[in-house]
Amino acid sequence: MNIEQSVEQHYSVDNLQDTILGAIEKSGKDLKSIGGVDLAPVDEFHIRGREATHELADLVELPPSAKVLDIGSGLGGTARLLATEYGCQVTGVDLTRAYCEVATGLSVHLGLGTKTSFQQGSALDLSVESGSFDVVWTEHVQMNIENKLVFYTEAARALKPGGKLVFHDALERNKKHGPPAVGLHLLLGPTGKEKFMNVLQSLKESRVVVIQAVLTKSA
Ligand SMILES: C[S@@+](CC[C@H](N)C(=O)[O-])C[C@H]1O[C@@H](n2cnc3c(N)ncnc32)[C@H](O)[C@@H]1O
Repeated sequence: MNIEQSVEQHYSVDNLQDTILGAIEKSGKDLKSIGGVDLAPVDEFHIRGREATHELADLVELPPSAKVLDIGSGLGGTARLLATEYGCQVTGVDLTRAYCEVATGLSVHLGLGTKTSFQQGSALDLSVESGSFDVVWTEHVQMNIENKLVFYTEAARALKPGGKLVFHDALERNKKHGPPAVGLHLLLGPTGKEKFMNVLQSLKESRVVVIQAVLTKSA
């Protein structure tokens, strides 16, 4: 099994959309009227969730109707936030086919099927046109990628001249009490607690740092 296959295996969860919507419904919400905030505990799979995404969006000063490529788009939470709150047109690419399917399903459920789209693919071999995006966005994906040179080369290729690469990388914070009804444990499976603890330990030992950055492609 190569790295990409093991990454996909690591993230894949069966029946995920039903699990997420079922958990939200169980928490007392009407599925017909849910929005990004209701999905955020599970579809913003990075440290500080929507807060971090807002912070980055403000930092990059997104132009209205910006074309954004979200590399490693996961369940599409960031794409939907950028589409609804900043008017962006977002294309997501993710290695994990199951995530792309759920991202598409959730966007359709929220009426964002035309503002966001998701395709299965590798960050290291993007099937997107060169120079076609105003912004390349990526959150908590590089930590899964060994060949950073190819990652950045592909991100730069996708950008228009003067376009911006925006990133935020590393992991989660501790929970004192059991998991909430809707949360990342739905994605992490039975070894979720162990995965969280590994990340915390890595942060404590300074083997991991959290970085937010905006880089501009030369014109
Ligand atoms: C921790 S999740 C973050 C998802 C999303 N960016 C977010 O913040 O909610 C990491 C994601 O990166 C994806 N990923 C990892 N390696 C990748 C690669 N080489 N190409 C594309 N996606 C990749 C995984 O499938 C997973 O969806």
